[in-house]
Amino acid sequence: MKISKTLISAGLVLLLITQGCARLPSKPPATVLPTLTTVPPSPKPRKTYQDLVVGFSQIGAESEWRTADTISIKQEAARLGVDLIFMDAQQEQDNQILAIRTFIAEKVDVIGISAVVETGWGDVFQEAKAAGIPIIFVDRPADVAPDEYVTYLGSDFLEEGRNAARVMLGLTGAQANIVELVGTIDSAPAVDRSRGFREILQGFPGMKIIDSESGDFTRARGLEVMRSFLQKHGKSITAVFAQNDDMGLGAIQAIQEYGLKPGVDIKIVSVDAEKEAFEAMIAGTLNATVECNPLLGPQFFELALKVANGEAVPKRVPSIESIFFPYNAATILLTRKY
Ligand code: AHR
Repeated sequence: MKISKTLISAGLVLLLITQGCARLPSKPPATVLPTLTTVPPSPKPRKTYQDLVVGFSQIGAESEWRTADTISIKQEAARLGVDLIFMDAQQEQDNQILAIRTFIAEKVDVIGISAVVETGWGDVFQEAKAAGIPIIFVDRPADVAPDEYVTYLGSDFLEEGRNAARVMLGLTGAQANIVELVGTIDSAPAVDRSRGFREILQGFPGMKIIDSESGDFTRARGLEVMRSFLQKHGKSITAVFAQNDDMGLGAIQAIQEYGLKPGVDIKIVSVDAEKEAFEAMIAGTLNATVECNPLLGPQFFELALKVANGEAVPKRVPSIESIFFPYNAATILLTRKY
């Protein structure tokens, strides 16, 4: 008897506990309806770098700049202990679409992507959104709806193009026949650098862009395209705007092969500010380089962790950049990291 009473009281306590109820009702209800117990959701534990899983879709390895960017991302992930799934798209948009779908299947916390081109992405960003995976653009954005990504970290390509034009004006006294080595067609830096460059030059009738062609941001194509420009226009070319250093270095080689002095007979301005550009400025073959910062790893993972924890981040995070000239290139080269 004693035992069964104890059992009954224990059963009652258990019932009360499981019903989340702290008090006995004063009167028993007339009809007992089945009730659903709603347990308040326990707050999601905050992620740390050590339990953050990030998928990153990189464009490829087309330039020294890109290599430095990849190293920065991989090194920072290793330093912080982030689980990074890194996929190299070898300059192919289809590979990047596949990478995003792989990251969705892997249920990563955040996706980072440097978009090879701006358009032609179909539904893939919506798919990531539907799966609840935030997207961060790093370096290059895609032309998608604002609600399909959380933030864009990278350079102001338009301003880089404007700065290249401002420098070119000074170098040429506002009189030049310019050839332009454009980056990857339809990529954000190619589109915006071209636009910014023209925006500044439009007020200067002496500054003529006599030819413009894509060198795909690679040295090999820069060399090839500059050779064809020289074949076509010969000594009438007085200036080159190379939308990255690698193409500029290819152009320098083509000009030397043609028997002219790069940096003297033909003024050259490029973009990126990689180590080899400094060496070229020291050698007198390059006149200026407009910085585009590839060391985005630290800022990227800081944003990724915030985003994974649902914290608000700015829609646009610009990198801080400069312009470099030959006069102090030797000193600055000592401190360059890429
Ligand atoms: O998106 C940044 C550009 O891509 C860099 O200027 C170029 O060198 C790289 O390949």
